Amino acid sequence: MSDNYQNDVLVIVAHPDLQTSRINKRLTEELERRGAVTVHRLYDVYPDEKIDVVQEQALLDAHKRIVLQFPFYWYSSPSLLKKYFDAVLQRGWAYNGGNHLKGKELVLAISSGGSESMYQAGGFHHFTYSELLRPFQATANRVGMIYRPPYIVSGIREVTDEQLERHAAAYADYVQNLPYATV
Ligand SMILES: Cc1cc2nc3c(=O)[nH]c(=O)nc-3n(C[C@H](O)[C@H](O)[C@H](O)COP(=O)(O)O)c2cc1C
Repeated sequence: MSDNYQNDVLVIVAHPDLQTSRINKRLTEELERRGAVTVHRLYDVYPDEKIDVVQEQALLDAHKRIVLQFPFYWYSSPSLLKKYFDAVLQRGWAYNGGNHLKGKELVLAISSGGSESMYQAGGFHHFTYSELLRPFQATANRVGMIYRPPYIVSGIREVTDEQLERHAAAYADYVQNLPYATV
């Protein structure tokens, strides 16, 4: 299967409506324009939300770094990504008898309405991004993935068009060029 993909990096974009999105739309388009990573628009592939587990497992098998890109919704991801986790990370494949994801990297890429200063103890949202993203980190840990620092675009209403362009370039560079962790 891996011969079918030329890229090491798989970016799973989980945005329920990329057409009306500003941030994730631009980030996704930049990745697609460069063509250096495999972009998988989850809501476009599964408008009926019926996930093809075999196809998704094959995609994961074929890539070394898995990026989960999504807008922060209620301190987590949009629901289809949770459904994806529940369906795809099967016992005997991802854990307890299978270790298909072991040694692969997990990178989260998130846009959030709240600004960075709101995400701290005493701030508007009380907790840090690192604290709120623990379920993703714990899942990575459970299946033997290496959790890498996320790329976060925060305070999206204050992000100017110029800043968004810089984010698009920096994000594409990050997912593509972040040196692989040595374990
Ligand atoms: C259902 C819903 C829940 C949201 N929850 C949060 C949240 O918990 N924290 C936050 O900072 N922003 C939250 N937001 C704002 C989104 O993160 C923001 O609209 C999104 O990142 C913008 O990206 P886009 O331009 O790609 O749509 C929420 C938005 C929606 C629609």
